[in-house]
Amino acid sequence: MRDKRNINVCFSPELFPLFSDGKKIVVVVDVLRATSVISTAFQYGIKDVIAIQSLEEATKYKGEENCIVAAERNAEALEGFDYGNSPFQYMNDEIKGKTLVLTTTNGTRAINMAREHIVITSSFVNFNAVCNFIKNREEDVLIFCSGWKGNFNMEDSLFAGKLSDKLLNSDNFQSNCDSALASISLYKSAKDDLFSYLENSAHRNRLKHLNMEPDTRFCLSPTFESDIVPILKNGKLIRHEK
Ligand code: MLT
Repeated sequence: MRDKRNINVCFSPELFPLFSDGKKIVVVVDVLRATSVISTAFQYGIKDVIAIQSLEEATKYKGEENCIVAAERNAEALEGFDYGNSPFQYMNDEIKGKTLVLTTTNGTRAINMAREHIVITSSFVNFNAVCNFIKNREEDVLIFCSGWKGNFNMEDSLFAGKLSDKLLNSDNFQSNCDSALASISLYKSAKDDLFSYLENSAHRNRLKHLNMEPDTRFCLSPTFESDIVPILKNGKLIRHEK
């Protein structure tokens, strides 16, 4: 009988090298807003997603047929690109069958950092689908918080707590990771009303000052659920086929 599978939580890309040994499932989370955008785009029919780290590289895709090129820095959409990083922009039929080329301040950096592993993206939009994906696999799990420019953030960390708690309450998982323990405590403190709990959090306030509170509300409490698990294959996020 195989030992129980380990769960670890990485609070920041700066800490990722501490967790990069062995082959594991890396669940990249950037609740506000990259992985929420990715889940929404797949739910509305995007074919695949290319997560790009630099603006220079993203610019090369401009004008490509059947491509939507989206760019965000410091929570703002950038001039000259098709879309930004608001989930509401992707709730339309225009994106069906297209490739999304996406570059954001934090989330796309984390996806690329983890590319040697089995990379999936998660948000509150596809939480249950991600739990089922993980339960049907055998590898250890690292929940990778995108944070903010290398710093800890509340929303990704409490999401990590929700996922850690869910998995540890099933038979096959264990954790001796204090980050996982801390994230679970954070989630348990927040779970009754995430939006209010994050009232003073850095990114909720960044988005508030940009009149983007609706984005925060949606990403924390989505109005729909997606059963799609985006998984990284040959440099692209595609929908995992069950
Ligand atoms: C992200 O990576 O999701 C961005 O840094 C934050 C945002 O778009 O609000």
